[in-house]
Amino acid sequence: MEITFIGTGYVGLVSGVMMTHLGHKVTCIDLDNIKINKLKNLKSPIFENNLNYYIKKYASTPNLSFNNVYDESLFNSEIIFVTVGTPENADGQANLDYIFQSVLSAAKYANPYCVFVIKSTVPPGTCSKIKEFLKIQGFNFEIVSNPEFLREGSAIYDFLNPDRIIIGAESEMGFERMRKLYKPLTDNGVAIIETDLSTSELIKYASNSFLATKIAFINEMADLCEMIGADINKLSQGMGLDKRIGSAFLKPGPGFGGSCFPKDIIALQHLTKIIDSNFLILDAVINANTNRPNLMLKKIIKTLNGTVRNKKISILGLTYKAGTDDLRNSPAIELINLLQNEGANVVAYDPQGMKNVTKYFDNKLICAKNPMEATKSANALIVVTEWEEFANLDYKKIKEHMLEPIIIDLRNILDKTILNKLGYKVYCVGHKSKKQQNNHSQQS
Ligand code: UGA
Repeated sequence: MEITFIGTGYVGLVSGVMMTHLGHKVTCIDLDNIKINKLKNLKSPIFENNLNYYIKKYASTPNLSFNNVYDESLFNSEIIFVTVGTPENADGQANLDYIFQSVLSAAKYANPYCVFVIKSTVPPGTCSKIKEFLKIQGFNFEIVSNPEFLREGSAIYDFLNPDRIIIGAESEMGFERMRKLYKPLTDNGVAIIETDLSTSELIKYASNSFLATKIAFINEMADLCEMIGADINKLSQGMGLDKRIGSAFLKPGPGFGGSCFPKDIIALQHLTKIIDSNFLILDAVINANTNRPNLMLKKIIKTLNGTVRNKKISILGLTYKAGTDDLRNSPAIELINLLQNEGANVVAYDPQGMKNVTKYFDNKLICAKNPMEATKSANALIVVTEWEEFANLDYKKIKEHMLEPIIIDLRNILDKTILNKLGYKVYCVGHKSKKQQNNHSQQS
């Protein structure tokens, strides 16, 4: 099939490129010249595992092309995907300006037989509003909702191995077009759920909010484990093996971040508020996650005997998770700002995230070229992002140049036993520290 993607962010670019892999002919449109020029030079504007490989493979064929304008070439598309951003307004509401603008720009060139598919995350009711909006402008297009569930860092794997495909539509023609598009995946057994527009739109918010809830729950469980001397890793394992619960998204840490969970859960909260409905769990999850960096700060201060003032704190990891260069809503940002406000001298290192550092920090952040440089003369080393390379550093060498052998592992990725043997004091998330254990045995 011939299809167009409007917007080359994570979702649009990965889906566009990979639709070529499924055998379709794809054009990706983005008004950002810099991005399109990079893509025309066969370079991905974002860091995503294997994406460059597929761009190189398909952009050198007639099946994948990039364009920075809306033009007559849109007329051949059977499907136009809308994958532009839906940033959050000051009041938490999803901003749909880019969606309406892009749909209208494309409608002017589109074939009346074409279907518009909204893949961006939009509040329930948006697809119907788009249909109405286009009608007022004199266009009568079929609008379909097809939310995306791919994760940054494993986006290509997720595209090729989705747990399900969600389609919301109002007519058999809309469903039929989408069945044809996804046939290569459904032929391999991928489930397809067909529903109305609003349900499809809401499934996306419900899924992201539920996953965020799971993380907030396990984070608070980790706090409880610390207080009563239980082991969060075993607890997660013990819970996760129950098939009704599942083991995914039960890893404790410094809080969830990224461009999706924080934004989507707030948008859903906003939606419930404007219809005068109560969704108390959402409020609790948002509060718990917002407070998380503060709790992490307290943990660090306590470990460093009551103050971080004038101490050198080495932060390993800036991105909101491993496998991406994305710093949006990363818990590391808030934590570093809090540490700096407490008078700490922070030096940070991240394998991918240091290019965009300046726009995210209130104060100047010193970045080191590598973990060795970051940890030199440090009073404490703090792992904030679960990059695999942090688990494999030469900790023997690092200890020789640290001022104090203190490690705080906010992702539980390090081998505590080995580090203890090397002479480190190691503090993880959801484990009673040695200090606490001693206090406890003195009391009993
Ligand atoms: C998330 C969803 O997982 C995707 O299905 C969805 O398509 C995407 O949002 C979106 O709406 O576009 P993503 O933001 O890439 O994907 O990242 P996740 O892997 O879901 O992680 C989100 C945050 O939760 C990260 O900060 C991560 O560190 C944290 N997390 C995740 C935990 O703290 N513990 C866990 O066990 C899992």
